[in-house]
Amino acid sequence: MKKVVLAYSGGLDTSCIVRWLKEREYEVICFVADLGQGLGQGENFEAIEKRALAAGASKVYIRDLQEEFIDDFIIPALKANAVYEGKYLLATALGRPLIAKYLVQIAHKEKAEAVAHGCTGKGNDQVRLEVAVGMLDPRLEIIAPVREWEFKSREDEIEYALKYNIPIDVTKKKPYSIDRNIWGISIEAGVLENLEQEPPEDAYIITKSPTHSTSYPRYIEITFEKGVPKKIDGKAFKLKNLINYLNEVGGQFGVGRSDMVENRLVGIKSREIYEAPAATILHTAHKELEALVLDRELAHFKEMISLKYAELVYYGLWFSALKEALDGFVEKTQKQVSGTIKLRLSKGACVAVGRKSRNSLYKKELSTYGKEDKFDQKLADGFIKLWGMPYKR
Ligand code: ARG
Repeated sequence: MKKVVLAYSGGLDTSCIVRWLKEREYEVICFVADLGQGLGQGENFEAIEKRALAAGASKVYIRDLQEEFIDDFIIPALKANAVYEGKYLLATALGRPLIAKYLVQIAHKEKAEAVAHGCTGKGNDQVRLEVAVGMLDPRLEIIAPVREWEFKSREDEIEYALKYNIPIDVTKKKPYSIDRNIWGISIEAGVLENLEQEPPEDAYIITKSPTHSTSYPRYIEITFEKGVPKKIDGKAFKLKNLINYLNEVGGQFGVGRSDMVENRLVGIKSREIYEAPAATILHTAHKELEALVLDRELAHFKEMISLKYAELVYYGLWFSALKEALDGFVEKTQKQVSGTIKLRLSKGACVAVGRKSRNSLYKKELSTYGKEDKFDQKLADGFIKLWGMPYKR
C-alpha cells in the first residue's frame, strides 16, 4: 500500500480526508503541528490523535513546533519588518513552510511517497505548502483532496463523516474560517464577505473591542538585543512567554486588529480580518528602535527589503535563494538594534512614546534648538549650494 503523510488539524475537512485517502488505497499517517494554535474548548492533542485514528489513520505524529516557529520564522520576519500590503503581519503565511518542512521530514522517515493537505483550491496556503514541499523534495507526490473531491458543502462532509463514523463535532456552528497560531489569527468568510459591513464583534477571538476596552492606557517597555525582543518592563522573558504575554495584554486593549482587502496570489481580492496583538506591539517597537539606531540610507534601503521580504513570505517562497540572501542583509542590519522602546496601549492603538539605546544615533547637541546647540548653521549655506547645483537652470 502507498503511504501518505497528511497535515492534519483535527477539523472536519482533514478528518474526512483521512477516510477519503484510505478509499483510494493509501495508508494515511497524520501529522499535527502545534504552532500555538490553542485548541477549541475541552480539546487537546490527545483528543485530536484519537480522532485521527478513529477516522482511519495508521499513525499520528504530534509535534510541538512553537520554538522553531518563533526562532526560525517569526523572529526573522520581525527583524525584516515584514508586513504584507501594510496590514498583515503574516502569521498564517509564516507557518506554512514549517509545516511543509515536517511533512517532508516525516514522509522520508516513513518512506511515504506522498503528502497531503486540506487547503482549498482558492487560497494561498495550498501554494505555500506545495511550493515549499516541491523545493524540499520534488519527488514527493502532493495530494490536495479538497480541490478535487465530490463534496459541495459542509453538510455533504458531515453526512460523509456520519456515514463512516468519523468522530466530528457536528453541533459546532462554523460561521468563519479561522487559522490560528502564536503569531496571530486570520479570520475570513461568512458575513466578512460583505465589504461594506463592519466585522461583527463575535468574529474576533483574542482582542477586546477598542471601543469597549479599558479607557486608561497601559504603558509597556520592550527591550531588544540585536533585533530580538528580550524583556518586558525590564524583566527577561523566554520568547514564547513574551509573545503569549503580549497577546494577552495587547488583546485587553484591543490592540492588533486589522480589517483588510488583500491581493491573493491566485488573483483574487479577498477580505480578511486579523488579530495579532503581540506581533503588532513587537513590530511597532522594533521599527521605532530601528529609527533610532540605523543611519538614514540603511533605514531607507531596508524599507524596500521589508516589502520584498513580506512578498516572498506571502508568495510561499520562504525557501528561495532570494529570501535567504535577504536574511543575510537583514541580519547585518540588526547588529546595532538593541535598546528599549516605551509604548502606550490604549483603545486599540499601540504607539511608541519613548526610546533609548546605547547605539542611538540621535545627538541632542545637534538637533536641539536650545542654547547647548553645537550644529554649525553656517555650514548649511555651502551644503545647500552644492546640493541644489545640479538642478539650477
Ligand atoms: N489571507 C491569509 C494568508 O493568505 C490567511 C489565509 C488563511 N485564512 C483563514 N481564515 N483560514 O496568509
